[in-house]
Amino acid sequence: MAMRCISQMNPKKIRGRVFLVRVDLNIEEGGEKNAYRIEAILPTIVHLLRHKGKVVLLSHRGRPNPVREISNFKFQISKRDGKLSLQTFARILSGKLGTKVKFVPHFDFGKIEMQIEEARPKSIFLLENLRFIAGEEQDDSRFAAQLAALGDVFVNDAFAVSHRAHASVRAITKYIPSYAGLLMEKEVRNFDRITDNYRHPMSIIIGGAKISDKIGIIQHFLGKADYFLLGGGPANTFFEAQGLPIGDSLVDMKSTAFAKQCLRSKKIILPIDAERQNGKILDIGPKTVEQFAAVIKNSRTIIWNGPMGLFEKRGFEEGTRGVWNAVLMNKKAHTVVGGGETVSSISLIPGSKSLISKNVFLSTGGGAMLEYLSGKKLPGIEALQK
Ligand code: 3PG
Repeated sequence: MAMRCISQMNPKKIRGRVFLVRVDLNIEEGGEKNAYRIEAILPTIVHLLRHKGKVVLLSHRGRPNPVREISNFKFQISKRDGKLSLQTFARILSGKLGTKVKFVPHFDFGKIEMQIEEARPKSIFLLENLRFIAGEEQDDSRFAAQLAALGDVFVNDAFAVSHRAHASVRAITKYIPSYAGLLMEKEVRNFDRITDNYRHPMSIIIGGAKISDKIGIIQHFLGKADYFLLGGGPANTFFEAQGLPIGDSLVDMKSTAFAKQCLRSKKIILPIDAERQNGKILDIGPKTVEQFAAVIKNSRTIIWNGPMGLFEKRGFEEGTRGVWNAVLMNKKAHTVVGGGETVSSISLIPGSKSLISKNVFLSTGGGAMLEYLSGKKLPGIEALQK
């Protein structure tokens, strides 16, 4: 995929200019401190600051209810959605970058523009969660134009949200020169290396939440992959489709019809045992781990998104740990593991960093990674094409 990349921009053109950098800070409460997604966005920011640019970070977090019209600058966030503010990241990023990241808690564009203009080169701002504004998810041109007017150059360094046609991902590129950031470039280069030469057997491991997105992607991979190893919400949805008792486990009722159609496929491998609490399925069981590990061992392409269970809760981490062990032991496969939570779950393996060999690529993208690897065109990436 040939994209316009910030790495190819003459550094002299960075000096004094304002760069709107779309990043993905969609990190759950509690996971902020050591999130892989934060580490991954630092190189682009450092690059722009080193060459004396000004940086304005744009991101979403979670799926809040939009709070107000763009014309009204005051807004109140509900208690529930208050947890989705980006404020905490200003502090965390300031610490990591060794320079103050100024948080902007409003969308008063006139004020923000003045603040940026008055700031010195190498200043860095973080705007509030863009999804508080309805225009973001609607890919609204007016909202995108208002964002674009804050800067000189747009940089998309948020591969993880590039499958969403949202204002700060797609529409904004109509109004301002737009480039891929260093992280985006690295992710796409690694994925292209794999998709150019899919080796078989190819296994797709899918777990976690966001079930409808993940089950939908199975369809796109059916012709390419050899096995689908399912855990978490996607597996529960297949159990529901089979009429098996799942208590009040995480499930997507809207996806059961599609799951039913897929059940005939021998490629779909469902858990054969489960760990439960009060009837609720919270992890795959030991026999399933064994079964999945055997498939993973013989695979030559492995794509994994979504933990196998509620790994943060003691007693329900063995499924995810077992899959990590099997994945890390296979040194022959081309392996990509993606998604904020899935990558963070590597902490279940002591000394994990030293165990990641060259054949394993960790991606910040979850749904975006699955879509890209399945061959779907991502709106955020299409918009950066040369
Ligand atoms: C992700 O975490 O996969 C991205 O940030 C996209 O989030 P979304 O599924 O809420 O659009």
